[in-house]
Amino acid sequence: MRLLLLACLRAQTGNATTAGRIQDHLEAVGHICSLKDAFGYENPSEIANLISAEKFEAALAIHLYKGGRLLQGSRIPFGIIFGGTDINEDIKHEEKHRVMGAVLEEARFAVAFTEKMKELAAAEWPDARSKIYIQTQGIMTTPSATFNWKRFLQNAEWHRREPHIHLVIIGPAVDPQFTSEVNEKANRAPGVHLLQEIPQDDLHAAVKRCFAVVNSSISEGMSAAILEAMDLDVPVLARNIPGNAAIIRHKDTGLLFTDPQEFVQLSKSLMNDPSLERKIVTKAKAYVKKHHSWECEREAYQNLVLKLQ
Ligand SMILES: *[C@@H]1O[C@H](CO)[C@@H](O)[C@H](O)[C@H]1NC(C)=O
Repeated sequence: MRLLLLACLRAQTGNATTAGRIQDHLEAVGHICSLKDAFGYENPSEIANLISAEKFEAALAIHLYKGGRLLQGSRIPFGIIFGGTDINEDIKHEEKHRVMGAVLEEARFAVAFTEKMKELAAAEWPDARSKIYIQTQGIMTTPSATFNWKRFLQNAEWHRREPHIHLVIIGPAVDPQFTSEVNEKANRAPGVHLLQEIPQDDLHAAVKRCFAVVNSSISEGMSAAILEAMDLDVPVLARNIPGNAAIIRHKDTGLLFTDPQEFVQLSKSLMNDPSLERKIVTKAKAYVKKHHSWECEREAYQNLVLKLQ
């Protein structure tokens, strides 16, 4: 099949990574799957033109609103993959809610990453319940062999009290205002380093060389970075919010903290207790292998697109 996959493709973000993985799964069984950035199109008629011009036979969209709205009234069958913020945020907005309901009605199937996401969507649109599948994100890490921290940390300033400890924040600057706030704080904190996005293989290699991965997010989502750290045998310290608590069991597959004091205390216990570290790493790896299998994800999408024939 000639498939269109619509998603927000801003480089090195979660949706773009998911889109790339799904494309790879589908091309592995002979489909042609073209990724298009949802930000590049204004309305469904622009997408209708694209569909005729490129002779797409079926479509997929990530995010029920951002991607899905463009497929409203589509001539070709399509499936939807919930993005997270569609069900958590956009749903509160009346007009978006209406559009999302209409898109979901037209879709042949929808995919939720978690049971909870499915339940939220099904509570809103009960008629769609039976076509919502749960498929967690598949994780496969590929650390590059040639990664070298020194290339990145040449100008590092040693942390004053514990010079061997650094906090490195890596990622694209998405929101300029937030970026400048973070920059300013990081500049005043010795031992805290900000790095721009790097290729995924290098990122995996970098993570592998870290003592732990920290997630201090206060906003919801499902963190692929945490799952990748688990796959790379690196312990995770994450803020205790529902998105993180859904994938981490405290003191079992990682450590959950609620405030800075607890973060410091748990970090110290992790550093001083190699048996705790070993246990966490082993259990977390088993969890990712079992619940976030890349092979299962591949098979699921290869089967789901058959519904679009
Ligand atoms: C941190 O966790 C939140 C909530 O699970 C998630 O939305 C975010 O992407 C995560 N970020 C990283 C870098 O792990």
